[in-house]
Amino acid sequence: MQKILVTGGAGYIGSHTVVELLQAGYKPVIVDNFSNSEERSLEGIKAIVGRDITCHRIDCTDAAELRQVFEQEQTIVGIIHFAAYKAVGESVEKPLMYYHNNVGSLVTLLQVMQEFNVQKLVFSSSCTVYGIPEALPVTEQTPVQKANSPYGNTKKVCEEILTDLANSGNSNIKSIALRYFNPIGAHPSAHIGELPLGVPNNLVPFITQTAAGIREQITVFGDDYDTPDGTCIRDYVHVVDLAKAHVVAIERLLQNKAEAIEFFNVGTGQGNTVLEAIHAFERATGVKLNYKIGPRRVGDVPKIYADVTKATEELGFKTTSTLEEAMKSAWDWQLHLQKSTAKL
Ligand code: NAD
Ligand code: WQD
Repeated sequence: MQKILVTGGAGYIGSHTVVELLQAGYKPVIVDNFSNSEERSLEGIKAIVGRDITCHRIDCTDAAELRQVFEQEQTIVGIIHFAAYKAVGESVEKPLMYYHNNVGSLVTLLQVMQEFNVQKLVFSSSCTVYGIPEALPVTEQTPVQKANSPYGNTKKVCEEILTDLANSGNSNIKSIALRYFNPIGAHPSAHIGELPLGVPNNLVPFITQTAAGIREQITVFGDDYDTPDGTCIRDYVHVVDLAKAHVVAIERLLQNKAEAIEFFNVGTGQGNTVLEAIHAFERATGVKLNYKIGPRRVGDVPKIYADVTKATEELGFKTTSTLEEAMKSAWDWQLHLQKSTAKL
């Protein structure tokens, strides 16, 4: 079995990817410092796949610790690098913490990869690099814009680092940056899912926590945008579909089909408004949501969704889940979380 190192593998998208890697016949090895995750995600993975997964509790910005992992694991053929901080608002308040962790961990990882001659990398990027796009849907040729938060800038800078390395002419590392749109939902088993610590920043955890009575009400941020119902449009992609995109991306690298650096949009290709997302949740679960319309959120992109032609044609990526299925899985996960927390 080919061994794939998964940094941030205990996190939301990472844990789902570990499951898909295993099911595709790879041996994932997790590296995580649990700064934004809990050991119970490892238990969740185990409940799905029926065995323990090796996990190194280290910080990816620490070259010495990373080196030890590479030494111990020996035969790593590729890496999927999820480890990063991701809260946009926090990044505005603590930019250095974000640059240190997100940019620092990538640079450190690349240096250690070079030392150990590991040549394949899949990197977690984001549709945030497109800013407020002029035309929709966005393709990989849509111009990258000035980031509107330090978090967004870390993704832009990391993409530039990978591009500079590819163009340097003296690196064997090939990388694929996947630009995720809005990942939502959870594994259908409800053993793993998103674990927002504190008040959630993102729409779907806020919806499920409101439906569960943890939050009183959800506010829809603005209904006066130039969209069919006035609320913002996003491309919500089921996390299991997104996880599978990583498997096909690492396969492409391992089969030597990739250029030195490649970018792919990973979404569904379909845009939905906030109200459509809320109504999809209600239809999928039968639970009525207490929501109100409030003012716009500063910095929100009015509408964005992906053109996924490149990922479909070159990676063979396709989504299989509907928005309702994603919402149902998010709700099942919320119910599971409540049951397991009640037992503690
Ligand atoms: P997450 O916070 O659930 O997972 C990230 C994991 O990385 C966590 O388990 C955390 O403990 C770990 N981590 C952070 N810094 C680390 C470090 N220095 N060393 C070791 N481990 C570290 O986040 P996620 O939603 O799974 O996101 C994964 C990646 O995808 C991130 O790079 C994020 O920026 C990117 N992304 C996420 C979204 C989204 O909406 N969730 C959208 C686009 C891109
Ligand atoms: C989705 C929609 C809100 C909460 C963020 C990051 C981005 C990327 C994905 C990582 C928007 C609306 C939300 C609420 C609402 N992450 N909303 N009420 O803004 O697309 O992007 O996550 O790379 O960088 O900025 O995601 O889930 O916060 O919001 O009406 O309580 O839901 O206005 O239209 P967003 P989100």
